[in-house]
Amino acid sequence: MTTVGQVTGPSEEVAAGSPPDLAVKVEGLTKRYGELFAVRDLDLVVPRGAIFGLIGPNGAGKSTTFLALASLLTPTSGKVEIAGCDPATDPRGVRGKLGYMPDVMGVYDNLRVHEYLAFFAGAYRVPRTAWPALIDGLLELVDLSGKREAMVDSLSRGMKQRLSLARALVHDPEVLVLDEPASGLDPRARVELRELLVELRAMGKTVVVSSHILAELEEMCTEVAIMEAGRLLAVGTPRSIGDQLGGGRTIRVRLAGGEVQEHAVVTEGDQQALLARLVAEGLPVVEFTETSSGLEDLFLRITKGVVQ
Ligand SMILES: Nc1ncnc2c1ncn2[C@@H]1O[C@H](COP(=O)(O)OP(=O)(O)OP(=O)(O)O)[C@@H](O)[C@H]1O
Ligand SMILES: [Mg+2]
Repeated sequence: MTTVGQVTGPSEEVAAGSPPDLAVKVEGLTKRYGELFAVRDLDLVVPRGAIFGLIGPNGAGKSTTFLALASLLTPTSGKVEIAGCDPATDPRGVRGKLGYMPDVMGVYDNLRVHEYLAFFAGAYRVPRTAWPALIDGLLELVDLSGKREAMVDSLSRGMKQRLSLARALVHDPEVLVLDEPASGLDPRARVELRELLVELRAMGKTVVVSSHILAELEEMCTEVAIMEAGRLLAVGTPRSIGDQLGGGRTIRVRLAGGEVQEHAVVTEGDQQALLARLVAEGLPVVEFTETSSGLEDLFLRITKGVVQ
C-alpha cells in the first residue's frame, strides 16, 4: 500500500523551485441559487502532480465546485482555470485537459462496456484506429477486462464507478476531477482505487478528488481542503491542517515491562521533542504511536454541521 510518506509532496517541490505550475486555480468562486450560496468566495490552488482532496459534509459545495471546474456550470462570480485554460472562454480547451467523473453515472441502457467507452472516445475525437488498444488498456487499468462484453446496466455499483473512472480517462487528460469515486466501493475496491489514483499521479496526472471517506483521503492526498456550507475552512497537507487548527494528537508510549503512557502533543515538533526526552531519560521505549491525529476526528471537530 502506498502512503503519503512515500509520495513527495508537490507543495514542497514548488516551494523549492520556480513559480508554481498550477493544474487548477479557483479565485473567488461563488455560486448562488436564490438566497442559497452553494459555494461562497472559494479560493483554491492545486499544483500539478497533486492528489488534492476536497472534504466536506453533505451540501458543502463539493459537487458544485467540481461542476464549475468541468465547465458544466456557470459561476455567479469568480474565476476558474484548468492548466491555464478558462472554462468561461474556452470550454473546449478545458474539456480536452480535464477528465470529470460525476457523482452519479448516467444510465446507458443498450450499451456494452466496450461500446460505452468507444462512445466517449468518439465524443472526445480520439481517432477510431486508436480505440481498440485504448479500450483494452483502460479496462485493464480499472480491472474490468472480464466485463468487456457485459451490458453497462448489468454491472455492480462498484464496477460502474470503475467504468466511470475509465470514461474520465478516455482522452488522456492532464487533470482528473473525481466526485466521490469511492462511494459504493467495497473495502478491497477502495484500496485498489487508492492505488490506482497514486498510479495515475505517477503517470503525471493531477487528481482532484472529493470524498466522505476521510481516513482514505488522509493517506492518499498530498493536500486536502475542508469545506462547509460553501466556504473553505482549511487547506494544507493532512498533517499541517491538524497543526493549523490546533488539532492535538495523542502519543501512546509503551515501555518494556508493559507500562503505557499517553502524551498530548500539538505539533510535529512537540512529538520529536517528546521522543528525544524519553530517550534522553533512558526509558526503555518499545512503542511510540500516534493514536489520534485522524482527519476524521479533526473534521468532526471543525465542521459544526451548519445547514443553510
Ligand atoms: N441546481 C441546484 N439548485 C438549487 N440548489 C442547489 C443546486 N445544486 C446544488 N444546490 C445546493 O447547493 C449546496 C451545495 O450542494 P453540492 O451538491 O455542491 O454539495 P456537496 O458538497 O457535493 O454535497 P454531497 O456530499 O451531498 O454530495 C446544497 O445546499 C444544495 O442543495
Ligand atoms: Mg456532491
